[in-house]
Amino acid sequence: MTTINVALIGQGFMGRSHSNAWGQVAKFFKPPLTPVMHAVFGQAEENPQAFADNWGWQNASTDWQQLVRSPEIGLVDIVTPNYMHAPVAKAAIAAGKPVSCEKPIAGSLADAREMVEAAKAAKVKTFVWFNYRRCPAVSLAHQLVKEGKLGTVRHVRAVYLQDWADENVPLLWRFEKEWAGSGAHGDLNAHIIDMTRFVTGQEITEVTGAIAETFIKERTRPDGGGKGKVTVDDAVLFLARFSGGAVASFEAARQATGNQNRNYFEINGAKGALKFDFERMNELQYYDATLPRAVQGWSTIMCTHGGDHPYVANWWPDAHIIGYEHGFTNEAYDILRVLAGQQPTVPLPDFEDAYQTQRVLEAALVSADQRRPVSLEEVK
Ligand SMILES: NC(=O)c1ccc[n+]([C@@H]2O[C@H](COP(=O)([O-])OP(=O)(O)OC[C@H]3O[C@@H](n4cnc5c(N)ncnc54)[C@H](O)[C@@H]3O)[C@@H](O)[C@H]2O)c1
Repeated sequence: MTTINVALIGQGFMGRSHSNAWGQVAKFFKPPLTPVMHAVFGQAEENPQAFADNWGWQNASTDWQQLVRSPEIGLVDIVTPNYMHAPVAKAAIAAGKPVSCEKPIAGSLADAREMVEAAKAAKVKTFVWFNYRRCPAVSLAHQLVKEGKLGTVRHVRAVYLQDWADENVPLLWRFEKEWAGSGAHGDLNAHIIDMTRFVTGQEITEVTGAIAETFIKERTRPDGGGKGKVTVDDAVLFLARFSGGAVASFEAARQATGNQNRNYFEINGAKGALKFDFERMNELQYYDATLPRAVQGWSTIMCTHGGDHPYVANWWPDAHIIGYEHGFTNEAYDILRVLAGQQPTVPLPDFEDAYQTQRVLEAALVSADQRRPVSLEEVK
């Protein structure tokens, strides 16, 4: 059996979801490489040993620099706040290790560019956890567009709305530019930019009409040290053009009351249309405009049929639905395939790919700041 030792850097929300994925993947799939949960890094006050014991990591560390250099490690998996993605990734790449990194690839475009360049120079494989690509319904949407079922794509409408960030939420790292880079924008628009690029197979060429707002300007510091300034957006909306001629709208927000995790897109083509809503993640809505007009209408596809729908043959029987965590396990499987020289089930973003999403994020911030259209050619 060929194995690869994984080091997980971080142990928060994503630390838990990645630990679950690395622990599950070889049980449900037959990856060509078997991951060994070798070591997890956490800050001393987080008690990394307790995390390791709970999730099945063999070792715990409070020194990520030493861990990513360790000759025992075969893959470095980064689940820290955004500002740390670049230093950890660059240290791992310098040690010759493949890296899988949470999204957005970095807090800033400059950091993202350095990560891409370092990976290219060292010729190491890289991956970014745009996990929603690996919801079977989203993978199917990608396949249907690729097969030409929608014809020419004309409209892309995407929103990622949450409502958790009211006045009572303290000044987490997510609210400070220094740590996060941006707010709802990098957190949520990053996902829907990636998903719509993935599903349409097209690149965004221009961003315009961007608007950014911070509704709650200061928050209580988690350490009790009074109030601190919020330095990122709470909401960013923008319009865009795709390379194939489609026009698009994007919306990300953290105080969109009533939308707990509404990651939604709608794509209208000349021959058909698709709708996906993560809150009903097992379903894809499909409209076939090539049918006789008398029977045209939206159909709800339950994307749980193994063999026809990506990934689900390795999970449960038809309509025994899957959840949030399965997208991460599906991604872990494809990472292991690519590390072993095989093709992923559907395209898997690397640093270069995630850099294209980061360029769109940057273009929207420039558009919002300067109140003008921004061509992606300006954003290198
Ligand atoms: N793919 C997704 O759907 C998804 C969802 C949530 C978060 N994310 C991304 O995952 C990353 C982590 O987010 P999270 O929600 O797990 O955050 P979190 O706050 O829950 O956890 C972050 C972890 O990073 C480590 N850390 C924090 N500050 C540190 C410091 N100063 N030095 C060293 N280590 C530190 C700690 O182990 C901490 O537990 C972010 O890049 C975020 O954008 C992705």
